[in-house]
Amino acid sequence: MSTVIDLATAERNSLTPPSDILHSRILLEKMAHNWYKRAQVGKVRQKTESELLPEMAFDPNRDDFLVDLLPFKNHPMFSKAPESLQKKVLSCGWIAYNEKTIDIEAKVIAPVCNSIIYREIPGINQAADQLLASDTLVDEAYHIQLVVNACNITRNNRQLEHLKLPSFTLVKQMEKEKNRHPEPWKKHLVQMATAIVSEVFVSDYLALLAHDKTIQPLNKLTVYTHLRDEKAHHSIFLQLAKCMYASLSAEQQEFFAQMLPKPVRWFADVELEVWGEMLRQIQFPNADQMIRDTAEDSEVNLLRIDYSDVIKLARELGVLDSAIGADSFARAGLFS
Ligand SMILES: [Fe+2]
Ligand SMILES: [Fe+2]
Repeated sequence: MSTVIDLATAERNSLTPPSDILHSRILLEKMAHNWYKRAQVGKVRQKTESELLPEMAFDPNRDDFLVDLLPFKNHPMFSKAPESLQKKVLSCGWIAYNEKTIDIEAKVIAPVCNSIIYREIPGINQAADQLLASDTLVDEAYHIQLVVNACNITRNNRQLEHLKLPSFTLVKQMEKEKNRHPEPWKKHLVQMATAIVSEVFVSDYLALLAHDKTIQPLNKLTVYTHLRDEKAHHSIFLQLAKCMYASLSAEQQEFFAQMLPKPVRWFADVELEVWGEMLRQIQFPNADQMIRDTAEDSEVNLLRIDYSDVIKLARELGVLDSAIGADSFARAGLFS
């Protein structure tokens, strides 16, 4: 087993004890050889609509999404809208939920996997890391295929083929942050922080729908299958984060400590801009007014996602022991 790590560098640069980093290394080595045993999506080959089991066939009477996940669910303009329009809004919700998933996979996680494969991230440069990154790329590519298929079935059945969504906050803010820093290492750390937070949060995000018994059965199965894979590989990024952080210089650690809390809020955004765009396209009456009213309601501006794993990671890395780290988490409203 090749658990070669520069423990002297790790000890010098990190509050994480070298024994913990060695533990992460051993876990990563083990996980690097598990993909064939645990990957779920490969076992559930994506089927075309006509190949689906009868109980999975599209049921026009079932809702595509949960009313509870609509940021304006309590607004009178929504509750008084005709039922057919409310159902169309739910279909838009399902499409947006999936397109956000595609953004996470394609624009947040995949670029990090590629950077790991090219050994561009400090401390993540061993054979096991490259193997894990390539396994994760395969997982995420399957997830994109799974989600695109589910989206297309909804679009076809609900006459939403032409619905066009703008960018989501997570990717928009990540790119904005990267553009603020000319140094390539800073861009890598912004992308890495966003990927770590996304991999922690995506399971909670999928769990919002994965066990629901009221929505389209195919939608539930799609999310449930994805969730099982995410749960299997989400700790990879947590362990990689520890190996990376230990290899960063003091300046890089400070920068990473400032970046880590930011994607928490980007991810949890309820995407009112995307909603406004979709509602206008389906000609929901007074869509702009409803979105403006919802934007003023701070209670609904963030998805209720549990960020305790991000705090736990920050604690384990020692990020919260530094004044800069504690301050950046406090400013993001995650730590007092
Ligand atoms: Fe995924
Ligand atoms: Fe993932």
